[in-house]
Amino acid sequence: MQKRDKVSTLLGADAPRERVLVKGWVRTRRDAKALSFLELNDGSCLGSIQVIAEAGLGNYAEVKDLGTGAAIAVEGRLVASPGSGQRWEVQADSITVIGTCPEDYPLQKKRHSDEFLRTIAHLRPRTNKYGALFRMRSRLAHAIHQFFQDRGFYYIHTPILTASDCEGAGEMFGVTTLDLNDIPKRDGRVDFSEDFFGKEAKLTVSGQLSGEMFALGLGEIYTFGPTFRAENSNTARHMAEFWMIEPEMAFHDLDADMDLGEEFIRYLVAYALDRCREDLGLFARFVDSSLLPTLENIAENTFERLSYSDAIEILRGSGESFEFEPAWGADLQTEHERYLTERHFKKPVIVHDYPKDIKAFYMRLNDDGRTVAAMDVLVPRIGEIIGGSQREERFHVLRSRINEMGFDEGHYWWYLDSRRFGSVPHSGFGLGFERFLMLVTGVTNIRDVIPFPRTPKHLEF
Ligand code: 4AD
Ligand code: MG
Repeated sequence: MQKRDKVSTLLGADAPRERVLVKGWVRTRRDAKALSFLELNDGSCLGSIQVIAEAGLGNYAEVKDLGTGAAIAVEGRLVASPGSGQRWEVQADSITVIGTCPEDYPLQKKRHSDEFLRTIAHLRPRTNKYGALFRMRSRLAHAIHQFFQDRGFYYIHTPILTASDCEGAGEMFGVTTLDLNDIPKRDGRVDFSEDFFGKEAKLTVSGQLSGEMFALGLGEIYTFGPTFRAENSNTARHMAEFWMIEPEMAFHDLDADMDLGEEFIRYLVAYALDRCREDLGLFARFVDSSLLPTLENIAENTFERLSYSDAIEILRGSGESFEFEPAWGADLQTEHERYLTERHFKKPVIVHDYPKDIKAFYMRLNDDGRTVAAMDVLVPRIGEIIGGSQREERFHVLRSRINEMGFDEGHYWWYLDSRRFGSVPHSGFGLGFERFLMLVTGVTNIRDVIPFPRTPKHLEF
C-alpha cells in the first residue's frame, strides 16, 4: 500500500514529484472546459491542495458529480501551479471516490455562525476555523508538557473519582451505581454504604490535593487532566467539564508561584506565535484583528502585580459604574477583573493576598489573620485565567481552617497527615486550558475551544 501524502507536506514541497497519493475531503469543485478543479483538504493544515481532474479520467462523470464534503483518494503528479494563489497542484491520474456526500451536507461553502456550528459540533472539525483551533489545542498541549518537563517537573495522573471536595464550593457531580429509582436509605438519608465505593463519590473539581502529596515527595509536579464543576452558570467562560493544568512545587512561596504562572503564560503565548503561525493567522484575520499585537504584548512584557486591597482601591477610585460595587471582602467580578487588566494596566495582572473568607480552606493564612496567600492571574477579554496559592503547611492552622469551614476533618485525614510528617512550604496554581485557548485565539465563547462542550442542559455528541 502506498503511504498517503499529507496536504501539509505537499504544500510545503520544494520540488515537483512524479507520484503522490492524497486522501481528503472535497471543499469545493468548479468546472472548466474539459477540466474539473477540486480543493482537497485533509486536516493536516489550514490550506487545501488544488487537484486538476481532466475529462480523460475513466470516471470523469463520477468526479463531476462530487459535492462538497465528499471523501476521495487522488493519485497523480505534484506540479508547479500556473494559477495564482498556490504554488503546487496535483494533476490527477486517477480519482477514487471513498465516500460520497449528498447535497444536504450542512457545511456548504459559506461562512457559518459559531452558534450554528455548535449545533453540528460533530461536523465542525471539518471547517477551517475549527481545524485551526484544534490543531492549536494539540500543539499547545504539547507545549505545556515541554515547559514543565524542561524544568524538571513530573507529570502526575491524579484521580478523577474522588471523595474529597478540593475547592469546598459544593459544585461537585455525584457518581453512583445505586438504583436511582430505589435508593437505599438509613435514617431518612441515602445509605452510601451500599454504593459502589461504600461512601459518597464525586467527580473531581481539581487534582490539587492529590498533586500536593506528590510534590511533597517528588519536589515539582504538574497535572493536566479533565475536571468537573456542577456550577449552574451559563456564561461564556464556564463549562461543566474542562481541562486544567496544575503545577505544585515544594519549598516555594507565593512569589515563586507568581513567577512560575507568569513565565508559563508568556512561554505558551510565545510558543503559539512562533509555532502556530498559519492557524493563528486565521484568528487574526477573521476573529480578532488585534490578536497578534495583544499576544506580542503578553509575551514581551512583565505582568503587573498588586494586592487585592490595592485592587479594590483602584476599582473604587475608578469612577466606573460597575454592576457590582467593588468592596473589600467581596470577590472580584469579571467586570472588575477586566477593568484592571484591559483599562487600567493594559496588560496581564496578578492580584494577590485575597480575604480569607472568599478563598479555599487550603490557602496559607497571612500574619494579618484576615487574608490568605492567594493569587489570581487576570488577562484581557477573559479576566481570571489562573487561580493559585501558597498552601497552608502548618498542621494546627490547617486543621482549624477545615473545622471553621464546617468540613468533616475525618475526610481530610491523609491531607492533614502531610502536614504532620515533614511538612514544608509549597505552592501551586491551576490554569484553565480552555480559558487559555480563548486568550490565544480571540474566541469569545468557551464552548468553541473544546471538542464537545458540556454545559447545563447540554450533553449532545
Ligand atoms: O481558581 P480555581 O477554582 O482553582 C483551583 O481549582 C485550584 N485547585 C488550582 C490550584 O491551585 N491547583 O480554578 C483554576 C482555573 C481558573 O482560573 C479558570 O481558568 C479555570 O480553572 N476554571 C474553569 N474553566 C472553565 N470552566 C469552569 N467552570 C472553570 N472553573 C475554573
Ligand atoms: Mg479561582
